[in-house]
Amino acid sequence: MRDIQHIEIPGHTLSVRVDPGPEREGRPALWPSVGEYPIYDPFLYTTMTTDDERNHRFRAALAHLAPDRRILDIGTGQDLLWAREGVQAGARHAVAIEVIEDAFHKAAANLPALESPDRITLLLGESTRLRFAPRADVCVAEIIGSLAGAEGAAAVLADARTRLLEPGGLVIPHRAVTLAAAVRLSDLLPEQPVAFAEAALPYLRSIFGWHGSPFDVRLRVENPPADALLSEGAPIEVLDFNGDLQTQQRTTTHLAITRSGLVDGVLTWLNLWCLPDEEPLDALSMKTNWATIYLPLFDSPVPVETGDVLELTFAAALSDDRVHPDYQLQAVLRTADGQQRRGSLISPHHGGAFRSHSLYRDLFPAG
Ligand SMILES: C[S@@+](CC[C@H](N)C(=O)[O-])C[C@H]1O[C@@H](n2cnc3c(N)ncnc32)[C@H](O)[C@@H]1O
Repeated sequence: MRDIQHIEIPGHTLSVRVDPGPEREGRPALWPSVGEYPIYDPFLYTTMTTDDERNHRFRAALAHLAPDRRILDIGTGQDLLWAREGVQAGARHAVAIEVIEDAFHKAAANLPALESPDRITLLLGESTRLRFAPRADVCVAEIIGSLAGAEGAAAVLADARTRLLEPGGLVIPHRAVTLAAAVRLSDLLPEQPVAFAEAALPYLRSIFGWHGSPFDVRLRVENPPADALLSEGAPIEVLDFNGDLQTQQRTTTHLAITRSGLVDGVLTWLNLWCLPDEEPLDALSMKTNWATIYLPLFDSPVPVETGDVLELTFAAALSDDRVHPDYQLQAVLRTADGQQRRGSLISPHHGGAFRSHSLYRDLFPAG
C-alpha cells in the first residue's frame, strides 16, 4: 500500500499520509475525531450498539428512571436504541429525535417491527428546534464525545432541560468529564508512522466535504499504549447534566510529570457516569467506542523529568453554530531547572486553520 494517498473534495485534492501497516485488533490507529460531525454511517452506529461497556450503563439508568415516565431520546440514531430500551424498561411513551436524514429514514423503517411501536414517536430534526407537549420526565441523550462536550451535549441538554423536560426532570447520562495527561504523539503510535489508518480516509473526506474545505481536524488515537502517559491524568472539562451545566468553561490544571521522556501535547479521554453512584466508564482503560484524542501543544518534543509540571489551561466556548464547542488550550511547561516552555492550540469544531502545525503539514503533505 502507498503511504501517501489522495482524497477528493469539491475544489481540493488532498494528499494524506497513511499507515501502510496491517490493520490488527488492538493495534494503535490514528483517525479524525468523527462524532462531532453529521457523518454517522451504519459502521459507526454498529460500533455503538455493540459497545457493552457503554450500553449496560445506559440500560441500568433507564431501568431505574424510565418506568411509568415519558422519555425523550435525543439523537436516537438508525436503531432507536434508547427509545426502544426505555419503552422495554416500562416508559409510558418515548419521543425519539434524529437530525441525520438517512439515519432517521432507517429508524422509520425499523419502527413498525419494534415491540410497542405505538409508544414511540419518531421525529426528524435538531432537538434545539423541537417543540412538543407534554414535556418529558426523563431525557436520554448519547451525544457524548471522546472529548466529552465536543458533540454539543452542554448546549443541547441545557436547552432540553429548559424547554423539553418537566421541571425537576432528569438527564441520562448524569455526568461526563474529560481528563488529560502529557504525552508525545509518536509514543502513542509505537513502531508505526504518525499517519492515518487507511479505513479513516472516507471519514476525512466526509468531514471536509461536509464543511466545504479541509481544516486541522482533531486526532483520535485508538488503542494507545498505557505506558505512553508521562504525567498523571486530571480533569479539564466537566459536564454535570443534572447540575450546574455550563456551555462555556475554562479550567487551569497542573499535570505533574511522573517519568522522564519527551512531551509534545496531551492525550484526553472520557469518564462517564449514567447514574451518580456508579463506577464511571473510563475510555482510557476500558474497551469502548470512545477513543482518546491527542491535542498537539508544542511544535517539537520537549524533554521532561519527574517533578516537572505542565500547567494546562483548557477553554470551551460555543462555535458559530451555537451548539458545538470550539476549544483553546494554553500550556506552560515548567522544568525543575527553572525553564519555561509555552505551547498552545486553537481547535475549532469546524473551519479554522489548515496545516497550521508541523504535525498537520506531515499528515497532509503539500502537493
Ligand atoms: C453518538 S450517536 C448515538 C446514537 C444512538 N443513540 C446510540 O446511542 O447508539 C449521536 C446521534 O445523535 C444525533 N444528534 C446529535 N445531536 C442531536 C440533536 N441535537 N438533535 C437530534 N439528533 C442529534 C446524531 O446525528 C447521532 O445520530
